[in-house]
Amino acid sequence: MQCKRWNVNILLTGGNGYIGSHAAVALSQAGHEVVLFDNLCNSRADVPGRLGRIFGRAPSLVRGDVRDTDLLRKTLCQYRVDAVLHFAGLKAVGESVGMPLAYYDNNVSGALSLLRAMQQGGVRTLVFSSSATVYGEPRYLPMDEQHPTGATNPYGRSKLHVEEVLADLAASDADWRIACLRYFNPVGAHESSMIGEDPNGTPNNLMPFISQVAVGRRSQLRVFGGDYDTHDGTGVRDFIHVMDLAEGHLAALEFLGTNSGWHAFNLGAGRGSSVLELVRAFEQASGRKIPYVIVDRRPGDVASTYAKVDKARQMLGWQARRGLVDMCSSVWRWQQNEVEHKKESI
Ligand code: NAD
Ligand code: UFG
Repeated sequence: MQCKRWNVNILLTGGNGYIGSHAAVALSQAGHEVVLFDNLCNSRADVPGRLGRIFGRAPSLVRGDVRDTDLLRKTLCQYRVDAVLHFAGLKAVGESVGMPLAYYDNNVSGALSLLRAMQQGGVRTLVFSSSATVYGEPRYLPMDEQHPTGATNPYGRSKLHVEEVLADLAASDADWRIACLRYFNPVGAHESSMIGEDPNGTPNNLMPFISQVAVGRRSQLRVFGGDYDTHDGTGVRDFIHVMDLAEGHLAALEFLGTNSGWHAFNLGAGRGSSVLELVRAFEQASGRKIPYVIVDRRPGDVASTYAKVDKARQMLGWQARRGLVDMCSSVWRWQQNEVEHKKESI
């Protein structure tokens, strides 16, 4: 596959979800044809229509499960797919501890099913949604791609298992072109406010929680831990705007156009920001006060994690461009837009 020849056809498993839908925008605007493949277990059926309002034509959505190898194989053939971006999976760390089989089944069996379908369909180019969680407890900061891996929960281990399967596959057959993108903390929304992160139930992650406090859906944020060894005592993370992340997928595909084998890249902003810094940035972007209370640490959290991003900069020619205030203002506009949208549909 030569991605530099524009207009390649790309299948996005889990393309209806938060990161996949933003990647669909970046790919489509770069001239690629995108097809979404999703069972909608964590996303809404109206996403293709919303994408159509951003880039002019709603992409096709194949409703199906990645564990359905036959349907995947038919889809690869029907849409003459050149490359796959594999976003589909379950992603809640806490939930994975209570439901390990569901996580291994969806994330590991799902990936194996996809790889079988790709092998049968002659498609050998894959970008996999991995996670910084594969590094486990940080041994040094910033973490580069050589940092030892060793996940600490079933979700993280499912990502690590898939990375290892992919490395074995690439070693077995030189035609495979595989990029494992280790995301740090994606936040933000597309500037159109048509798509964004809208978790079901109580948000687990910081940014959706803050934005729900801002619109009055929740009374206050609970800050998990104020006594970490960080500059203000709260946890430090590498927040990356989801559109920067989306553009990282485009850069990875271009790279795979001329490079075979297995490659891992950190996708982060390359700097750490604390929970309270994000709260302040959100207050600045929204003009709203975010009430918060500091409570006990959340079990399993680390004090700080952030990426060394030199490899992606040097090999992909990519780096994050958007800052914290951009991240927060896009989320704020998206959240307000959703509130209006929901009122209209009542
Ligand atoms: P998301 O839940 O919004 O999107 C995942 C999509 O996959 C959803 O639309 C869901 O319906 C679909 N899906 C799940 N299981 C499926 C299956 N078996 N068959 C078909 N479709 C299925 O999540 P996201 O935040 O967009 O994450 C995308 C990927 O990135 C995931 O693999 C996740 O583990 C990884 N990741 C996310 C983060 C993050 O903080 N959001 C961080 C690191 C890695
Ligand atoms: N936090 C709060 N209050 C909340 C939610 C979070 O104080 O209501 C704090 C956490 O304690 C942590 C920071 O905000 O210090 C970030 O927490 P998130 O839950 O938003 O993100 P994590 O860093 O825990 O994990 C995220 C994804 C994982 C992924 C990891 C690395 O949820 O799937 O980033 O990419 F593996």
